[in-house]
Amino acid sequence: IEKKDLLYKGKAKEMFTTNDPDIMWVHYMDQVTAFNGKKKVQMQGKGQTNCEISSLIFTDLAKHGIENHFIKQLDANNQLVKRVKIIPLETVVRNFASGSFEKRYGVEHLMAFEKPVTEFFYKSDELDDPFINDFDAEALNVATEDQMKKIRDIALKVNDRLKEIFSEMNVDLVDFKVEFGMTSDGQLILADEISPDSCRLIDRTTKKSLDKDVFRKGLGALVPVYKELLGRLEKVEDVQ
Ligand code: C5P
Repeated sequence: IEKKDLLYKGKAKEMFTTNDPDIMWVHYMDQVTAFNGKKKVQMQGKGQTNCEISSLIFTDLAKHGIENHFIKQLDANNQLVKRVKIIPLETVVRNFASGSFEKRYGVEHLMAFEKPVTEFFYKSDELDDPFINDFDAEALNVATEDQMKKIRDIALKVNDRLKEIFSEMNVDLVDFKVEFGMTSDGQLILADEISPDSCRLIDRTTKKSLDKDVFRKGLGALVPVYKELLGRLEKVEDVQ
């Protein structure tokens, strides 16, 4: 497969077209950003750890019946994925209160939820990704009622499996963000990435963050933390 034109450059990934119209080439950059790009740093090795973590997780989810855009990892920083039209929603699932939830509702940090909380944010850099509900999403033609229902359903299945994986790594899954897209034949599938950039993860013993909060809060070097997480993930028996 041949890499062609740069179609889109995001904050952590570049997407290229290929000679196959249904396949995209994803390059994970050695760059980390936070606060909607206001904090941005180049970091050697960061692209590789995220690419590997995301590849392992997507492969595992597919094995567990959760279809997604991942096709294969090409090398350290590059993947092939199915081309989809991204639905401009960030779907967040939370098991413990943190981040914007904690701030919005003024609740105790890491308050445990009896059942997972699903939230949506409208993907818009200009508007700073505002909170959005199903009705708003429908009114704005962001997604249909049927798509919203499927998205909730898949996001909760992802949560169930991720909790199992991280549990085996002695890690609590606090929350995570996923994105969905439509394939050329009209199928709604999980897309984007699942990595410590898009999850909050806390070591059950040390209570330390193993995710991008280390960067957001300036708690130390990020890449060693991501490498530690990847090392643990590689040891999970049926994640291969
Ligand atoms: O900031 P907030 O608490 O809403 O984030 C919830 C989860 O979604 C966190 O795991 C965070 O890393 C992820 N997220 C993301 N990209 C964003 C916003 C949040 O991956 N633009």
